[in-house]
Amino acid sequence: MKVGIANDHAATEMKFQLMDYLASKGYEVINYGFDTNESCDYPVAGERLAHAVLDKEVDLGIAICGTGVGISIACNKVNGIRAGVCSECDTARLIREHNNANILAFGARIVDLDKAKELVDTFLTTPFSNGERHNHRIALLADIEKRQK
Ligand code: RB5
Repeated sequence: MKVGIANDHAATEMKFQLMDYLASKGYEVINYGFDTNESCDYPVAGERLAHAVLDKEVDLGIAICGTGVGISIACNKVNGIRAGVCSECDTARLIREHNNANILAFGARIVDLDKAKELVDTFLTTPFSNGERHNHRIALLADIEKRQK
């Protein structure tokens, strides 16, 4: 599986640690984030990752900033992206099962590296449950995008 990862300055160290971790587990990882600890802009990294997912350069994405919120908002601005912010594994599982989330977001200032690894493991190994009610609701989300002015 190909995984995209993106970050701002708040998450550079964690991004590199997770890239090593994911590579050690056999994932191909592509870096769409910033490689600096100097101040940089999470909307830029989030949008890059979102387009990589939509363009199928990668199968799923991981977005990290200080809280996970700013970069997830950026990702979710791109039609077709369903990004969810998680700090525990039940949510990381459920955003795949129920929401067919294509990007996992979390905060490098909120979760430690061990928790981040657990979130990533859970997200990447959980399939969409593909139930009728979930498909219906995801179609309704796409309808919202079509009504955008
Ligand atoms: C950067 O200081 C911080 O605002 C950013 O990483 C993120 O937490 C925003 O949502």
